[in-house]
Amino acid sequence: MFCKESTSSGLQTLSIAKSLSSPFHKPSPRINVPIWTGRRDKMCRRQNLSGRCKVRASQSNSGKKGDIVKEKAKKIKVKGFIKAQEGTLLEGLRWSRGLDDIADITGRSLLVELIAAETDTRTLMEKDPVEDYAQRVWFDGDSAEEKYECVFDMPEDFGTVGAIRIQNQHHREIFITDMELELPSGNVTFSCHSWVAPKSVDPAKRIFFSSKCYLPSTTPEPLKKLRKEELETLRGQNREKVGEFAKHERIYDYDVYNDVGNPDKDDELARPVIGGPSHPYPRRCKTGRKRSKKDPSTENREGEFYVPRDEEFSPTKGTAFTGKAVLAALPSVFTQIESIMLDPKSPFPHFKAIEDLFDVGINLPKDTGLLPMIPKLIKVVAEAQDDLLQFDPPVLLNRDRFSWIRDDEFARQTLAGLNPYCIQLVTEWPLTSKLDPAVYGDPNSLITWDIVEKEIRGVMSVDEALKNKRLFMLDYHDLLLPYVNKVRELDDSMLYASRTIFFLSDDSTLRPVAIELTRPPDVNRPQWKQVFTPGYNATSAWLWKLAKTHVVSHDAGYHQLISHWLRTHCCMEPYIIAANRQLSAMHPIYRLLFPHFRYTMEINARARQSLVNAGGIIETSFWPGKYSLELSSDVYGKLWRFDKEALPADLISRGLAVEDENAEHGVRLTIPDYPFANDGLMLWDALKEWITDYVKHYYPDAGLIVSDEELQEWWSEVKNIGHGDKKDEPWWPELKTQDDLIGVVTTIAWVASGHHAAVNFGQYGYGGYFPNRPTTTRIKMPVEEPTEEELTEFYEEPEKVLLKTFPSRKQATQVMVTLDLLSTHSPDEEYLGEEPEASWIDEPVIFAAYERFKGRLQYLEGVIDERNVNVSLKNRAGAGVVKYELLKPISEPGLTGMGVPYSVSI
Ligand SMILES: [Fe+2]
Repeated sequence: MFCKESTSSGLQTLSIAKSLSSPFHKPSPRINVPIWTGRRDKMCRRQNLSGRCKVRASQSNSGKKGDIVKEKAKKIKVKGFIKAQEGTLLEGLRWSRGLDDIADITGRSLLVELIAAETDTRTLMEKDPVEDYAQRVWFDGDSAEEKYECVFDMPEDFGTVGAIRIQNQHHREIFITDMELELPSGNVTFSCHSWVAPKSVDPAKRIFFSSKCYLPSTTPEPLKKLRKEELETLRGQNREKVGEFAKHERIYDYDVYNDVGNPDKDDELARPVIGGPSHPYPRRCKTGRKRSKKDPSTENREGEFYVPRDEEFSPTKGTAFTGKAVLAALPSVFTQIESIMLDPKSPFPHFKAIEDLFDVGINLPKDTGLLPMIPKLIKVVAEAQDDLLQFDPPVLLNRDRFSWIRDDEFARQTLAGLNPYCIQLVTEWPLTSKLDPAVYGDPNSLITWDIVEKEIRGVMSVDEALKNKRLFMLDYHDLLLPYVNKVRELDDSMLYASRTIFFLSDDSTLRPVAIELTRPPDVNRPQWKQVFTPGYNATSAWLWKLAKTHVVSHDAGYHQLISHWLRTHCCMEPYIIAANRQLSAMHPIYRLLFPHFRYTMEINARARQSLVNAGGIIETSFWPGKYSLELSSDVYGKLWRFDKEALPADLISRGLAVEDENAEHGVRLTIPDYPFANDGLMLWDALKEWITDYVKHYYPDAGLIVSDEELQEWWSEVKNIGHGDKKDEPWWPELKTQDDLIGVVTTIAWVASGHHAAVNFGQYGYGGYFPNRPTTTRIKMPVEEPTEEELTEFYEEPEKVLLKTFPSRKQATQVMVTLDLLSTHSPDEEYLGEEPEASWIDEPVIFAAYERFKGRLQYLEGVIDERNVNVSLKNRAGAGVVKYELLKPISEPGLTGMGVPYSVSI
C-alpha cells in the first residue's frame, strides 16, 4: 500500500534529526534570560521549526520521469501546551543542571512531533510529522510543575492527530502529565502521565497516542507501526544491553519470587524460590539483577528494586505520604522502636500498658526524625514532642472498649470485619481431615453432635442445622497442620491447627459454639487435640478466651498473607505485566483496566523489599514466620482459581450464596445480613454493568474478540506465563464471547478495587488494638501437656498467660505502625467513579455509561449509610458496633476505614 520511502519512519527520523542539528547546537543569545518561577516566563518565543516539515509529492503530481512537482499545502498555526513536572537528574548527569536551564531558556528542551492518524488521500502515504521545540513558559519552584508551549505549522489538511512523539533534550527526566492541542476543530488532550528520560540516556522518541481507542484491526495505517514498535519496546525486544534494568527503563517481563531471601547477608535469611513446580506462585516483575554469590537460584537484593519507570508514583505535590515512602521508612522506624525495648521478647505486663500506647505513648530516642517520616501516627497533642510515638485509638476501641472480648463480636467480624473471605458453610458431618493419618494422626474431629447440640441449646438437631444451613466454620485445620511442628521450632512461636464452628441464629448473627485446636504427632509425642466451648465458669471461660486468641491469630495471618497479599497484590501483577506487553496503550481494554493497575507493581516491589522479605515485618510478626511465602504458595497451588475470584462465585464456593435468577444480584445469600457481601454485590454489579457497556461498545460482536490478536495474546500470557504454574487448570475462562471478556475484566477490576479495599483499609481499625487480632501466638494452651508450673500460673494469673500468648511488645508495636500506615489513603488516591479517564470522556457512549456507573456508586454510598443505622442489621449496626463502611467508594485522605480506590496501591 505504501511506497518504500513513505513507510520508512527511520528515514523520516533521520531527515528530521538532520534538519534540526544546526539550530540545536547553536547557543542562543537569550541564554542569560532568567526563568521566572511561579508565573509565565517573560520571553520572546524563539523561531519555531516552521518549514522543516517535508512535503511529499504524489504520483499524480509527477511530470515526466524524475521530475516531481512539489505542491505545498497551506499551513495553519496550532498551539500545544504540555503540562509537566521536573524530574530528578539521573545518576551521572548531576553536573548538567545548568545546561538544562539553558535548554529551557533557549526553548530546545523538548522536541515534539505530531503524527497524523490518516494517510494522505492523494499519495496514499503517511503524512510527514509536524514538529516543534516546546518552550518552557511557566514554572513553579515549589511543586516543580512546569508548562511548555509549542506552535506547530500544520498543513491545513493534516487531519486527525493520532499520536505525538516527544524527545527530552534535557539532561534530567521529565514527568509529562499531558499535552493539549488547540486544533481548529477543538482542543484535543493527549494524556501521558509518564516519565520521559533524557535523550542522552534513551535516544528513542516517546510515543503517546491520542485518547481515541483502536482495536488492532481498526488502527489507522500510519499508527500501526508505532503501535507495534511501542509494544516491542515495552517487551524489551529493542533492548541492546543485558543485565539489570536501569531506573529509566520501561521493560515489563516476568520472574519468580527469588529475591525475598538474602543468603549473601546471612544463611538464616536463605529462602526457597517461590514460583515454579515445587512452590507455585504468580510471577513478579523481572529486574534482571545479578544472582546471589551463595545461591545462584536467588537474586541479589542490593540497591533499589526496579519497576518499569511509569509504574513509579507520580511526583504530584502532596504525595510525600505514598506507599513507597511509607515502606521505605518502616525499617528505620522499627530500629527506633526496638532500641527502647530492653527485651524485645517481653510481653505487655498488663492491659493498662497496651492502652497506654494510645493514652500516653512511647518515648523514643531524641532527634530520631520519626515525626516527618510517619506524621500520621503522631497525635496532634504530641506534635510539640517529636520523641513521642502515640497511637490514635482504632475505631473498634473508640466505639466499644470491651467488644473484642465478646463472642458476638468475634463472630460478627467474620462477616463484617477485616477478613470476611474465610467463613464457610459446613456441608459435611462429621468433620474429618483429608491429611495422611500416618503423618498427622487421627483425622476425625472431636467436635461431636453432642457438643454442638448442647451449645445450640436444643434449638435444633445438628441434622436440622446442616439441612437448614445453620452451621458455619472457620477452617484452619488441614492448611495449618503441616506447619504446626515446624513453626513451633521457630524462636518464640506457637501454632495449632484450628476449626471453629458457628451457629446461625434467626436474626442473622453467628454464635461461636466450639473451637478445636490440634497439634500433630512428632517424634516424641502422639497427636494432641482438644475442643473448647464458651465457658460458664472461670476456668472454662479463660480457656475459651485463650482458644479464641489462637483462632483470631490464625485468621490474622491468613488474612494478611492470603486474602490480602496473595489474592490482591500478588495475583494482580501478572495481569499488569501482560497488559503492558501485549495491549497497546490505545487498546480499549488497556484503557479500561489502566486505572486498576495504578501503582500496584511499585507497591509490590516495596513489599518484596521490606514486608514479605526474609526477616521483614511479616516474617517477624506473623505466626507463619519464615514459612510465610511458602504458606501463601501452598494456598495458591491448592485453592486459588481465577474463576472463583469473582465475588458471586467466591460466595457460592463458600456456601454463603446460591444462584437465584430472581434474586437482586443473581445470588441469594445464606446469611442475609452479611455486610461485606451485601455491599460487595452492589459494587460488583455496578462494575459489571459499566464493563458490559464498555465491552459491547468496542466489541459489538464476538468475532471481534476472537480476532483481536492483542487481546488474545494478553490473556494467553496471563494464563501461560504470569500465572503459568496454573496454566493447565481447566477452569481458566476463554476469551471467545463478550460475556467471557466481561467476566474476566470485571473479576480483575473487582480484585483491584472492592476486594482489596475490603481487606486493606480496615487493618488499623480492627488490628490496631492487637488483642482483637493478634498476629501470632507465643505459648501453648495451658492444658496441652502442662507442667505444674504452667498450670499454677494459669490458675493464679490467667491474665498473664493471655498476655504471654499475645505478640511481644516489639511485635505488637511494629505491627500497629505498619497497619496504621497501610490503612491510610494517600492524598492523590483515585477512587472508583471519581475521575474518568480521558479516553472515556472523549467517547460519548462510554462517557454516558461511566456517568451511570458513577451514579450507581453514589447510590451505593447512600445505601451503605442507610444500612449502617438500621439496627435490625445486627452485624453492622447497634450499640457500639463498628459501622461497615469499607466498601463506600469515596474517602478523604488519611485513615478513614472507607474508600475504594481503583487499584491496589498500598
Ligand atoms: Fe494492600
